[in-house]
Amino acid sequence: MSGKHYRGLIEHYRDRLPVAPDTRIISLCEGNTPLIPLVNVTKGLQKSVEIYAKFEGLNPTGSFKDRGMTMAVTQAVAEGTRAIICASTGNTSASAAAYAARAGIKCFVLIPEGKIALGKLAQAMIQGSIVIQIKGNFDDGMRIVKDMAHAAPVAIVNSINPYRLQGQKTAAFEIVDALGRAPDYHCIPVGNAGNISAYWTGFSEYAAVKPATKSCAFCDDTCRYERPAVTDSRPIMVGYQAAGSAPFIAGHPVENPETVATAIRIGNPQSWDLAWAAVNESGGWFDALTDEEILAAQKLLAEREGVFCEPASAISVAGLLRDIERGKIRDGAVITCTLTGHGLKDPDTAIKQSQGNVLQIEAESAAVKRAILDHL
Ligand code: F0G
Repeated sequence: MSGKHYRGLIEHYRDRLPVAPDTRIISLCEGNTPLIPLVNVTKGLQKSVEIYAKFEGLNPTGSFKDRGMTMAVTQAVAEGTRAIICASTGNTSASAAAYAARAGIKCFVLIPEGKIALGKLAQAMIQGSIVIQIKGNFDDGMRIVKDMAHAAPVAIVNSINPYRLQGQKTAAFEIVDALGRAPDYHCIPVGNAGNISAYWTGFSEYAAVKPATKSCAFCDDTCRYERPAVTDSRPIMVGYQAAGSAPFIAGHPVENPETVATAIRIGNPQSWDLAWAAVNESGGWFDALTDEEILAAQKLLAEREGVFCEPASAISVAGLLRDIERGKIRDGAVITCTLTGHGLKDPDTAIKQSQGNVLQIEAESAAVKRAILDHL
């Protein structure tokens, strides 16, 4: 393929990723997501801050998982793997199914019965994966998937697969590339804890001086990538969990995690040590938010900014706004928040909390006019 159109994060950041030159790349042109300035939610805040949302819901399957999946499936195919497997709260299964379809290999996904959002289930199903619903939660699924690594000829594509985190670190690269500097704080939802670990790796690699070995195939010769893209700082990393699923706040795994943000309904995160390293090395913190706070932030982002993310994603903005009010964020700070998944993933939750916006009236102009005048 020729031309300069964007061809996915592996091609764009090739010399910072473990991919051999002749490897067949399995890509859906993931990455390159927008960094959207939040202009309305900052109004009325005590502090003057700049907030940007890294909207990962605009990846090909609607979540950040695609960044890791392009790497994990590319590697699996390079190793001759014919089937992949994952446990998932939904988004990983949607992404794994898509990349397996693309690669022409089989995909098995273990999901907690009745506890994944409708859109994610639809994606996994139509993209041809074998959906295994278990009578248990994500942590049970993860335990079984790890057993399968020895019991069956399948490659695990959960974030315990190191190629996943390699792909996901590129989101941090994109943020620095877009801002021209590292943010002062980076706020992110935490579930299985792979993503916060990947971002920290990405920010750290960009802060370390490393000569580029190859120029980017996508960009022209003004591309930052032709030089080592270097920032002299790294952000403070802040990880937010749902109150009913908050092992990092408890300090130990929790049994029977619960939250409306089903994507992060996880009690036994696999990247425990890496996530603690990200927070401790950066001088950051973990905190928890209630389901009510999460849903309020989802609605706020949709109503005030026109950005529709899923509940788990909104926790990064919910936590940030609370931490600004509590004085934990310094004046003048530049802050980035990852919005990990698209709101369309979970239409049920969105509809449930927006009933008040629907009017039922007669099919008559007079009635519609009255409704308009009542609501102006
Ligand atoms: N936000 C969304 C929308 C997610 O789907 C996930 C994880 C997270 C945040 C948390 O990221 O696990 O790296 O800390 N979803 C996984 C899944 C577990 O199966 O889709 P993390």
